[in-house]
This record gives sequence, C-alpha cells and structure tokens, in this order.
Amino acid sequence: MTMWQRSSHGHQVHPQRPPISVDLDGATPLLTLLRSELGLTAAKYGCGTEKCGACMVLIDDEPTYSCTREVGTLAGRTVTTLEAWDAMARCTRCSRR
Ligand code: FES
Repeated sequence: MTMWQRSSHGHQVHPQRPPISVDLDGATPLLTLLRSELGLTAAKYGCGTEKCGACMVLIDDEPTYSCTREVGTLAGRTVTTLEAWDAMARCTRCSRR
C-alpha cells in the first residue's frame, strides 16, 4: 500500500514504511513514478491508452489505469499495487488466521 500526500516540496509517498519524497512534475504518469522512481514493477506499460489493463493499480480500492493517471491528482489518496497483494500472500502468519 502506498499513500500519497502533496506537499509544498512535491509529492510525499508513504509505502508502509517511512515516508519518502519525490520531486516530479504533477503531470507525470503514476506508472512512471511506480516503475522508475520506486522500483515497483508489477504494473506494466502496455498500450498507454487505457485499453489493455497492464498498468492497473487500486486507488482508494478502485481499479485505475496508472499509465494515464497523473501523480498530481493523488493528494491524500491510497495507491495499492500488486506488490502489496504478493506481500500479503507470502505472509504465513496472516494466512493461518
Ligand atoms: S498500459 Fe494499457 S491500460 Fe495502461
């Protein structure tokens, strides 16, 4: 899970660990931030036009195309990538409950 908050210094990111800040133009596609800046590569670039779904993430639990979603629109929103689901699947303590 990744939470975004906009600040005067850019976009702060809270991926269930200490917040990090990134300095990107608000028009940068979310997919670019995830893959190039954060190394979260589960979402892929396919068509870039909201047709294939390779870039799908959840924003506040709603399926969203990250290839066209601009990072400047994510203030206060929660972004969930497939990496979060993978981490939950590997959590043996969680699966025993
Ligand atoms: S890359 Fe195809 S829908 Fe985003």
